[in-house]
Amino acid sequence: MTNTTELAFPKAYAAIDSASQTLGFTMPSDPLTCTLLRSLAASKPGGKFLELGTGTGLATAWILEGMDEGSSLISLDFDQTLLDVAKAELGKDARLELVCSDGGVWLEQNKDLQFDYIFADTWHGKYLMLDETLAMLKPGALYIIDDLSPQANWPEGHAEKAEKLIAYLESRNDLVLSKLAWASGVIVAVKKPV
Ligand SMILES: C[S@@+](CC[C@H](N)C(=O)[O-])C[C@H]1O[C@@H](n2cnc3c(N)ncnc32)[C@H](O)[C@@H]1O
Repeated sequence: MTNTTELAFPKAYAAIDSASQTLGFTMPSDPLTCTLLRSLAASKPGGKFLELGTGTGLATAWILEGMDEGSSLISLDFDQTLLDVAKAELGKDARLELVCSDGGVWLEQNKDLQFDYIFADTWHGKYLMLDETLAMLKPGALYIIDDLSPQANWPEGHAEKAEKLIAYLESRNDLVLSKLAWASGVIVAVKKPV
């Protein structure tokens, strides 16, 4: 087995990728991580999904592919130009709600919502408002984050932030963690059923 075996990219991926390059969007999730996002999405039939940090919708396309028809996904970003790419390529999918909002504002306004699957790919839900985001996980829900292994574009001090985040997640007794030193460095956590 190799990591680069046929990944079966989502249909919309090439168009989104091309538009992303035109816009100079340089923060896409690793396709390997995206295959995991898709597989884990398939484990939550009828699920409520949340993606924090849509970007242009690259990971969104993979998550949607794993979801069944009874599932729904809210994906948010504060950059309308990036969201417009996701809207153009994925907007016809009735399971998807694209929201243009600051992550902190949205989390504050929607803290009573509960999800089966959260992919936190921006500051909020990962380095900011983490407790509030973890409180939105249903028992048995998945919390997924990536970019945890050192990246060339990390600013000074970010490695320490990532280490602190990982240590905090490990210290929580309501989460069951898997740390994958693979792709860009991924954590999959499951909220313990009460
Ligand atoms: C790592 S990228 C998301 C990549 C995307 N999930 C993908 O796979 O292509 C992070 C995103 O967070 C967005 N972002 C940054 N700060 C934000 C904030 N305060 N509120 C909402 N979105 C924010 C950026 O516009 C960017 O698109």
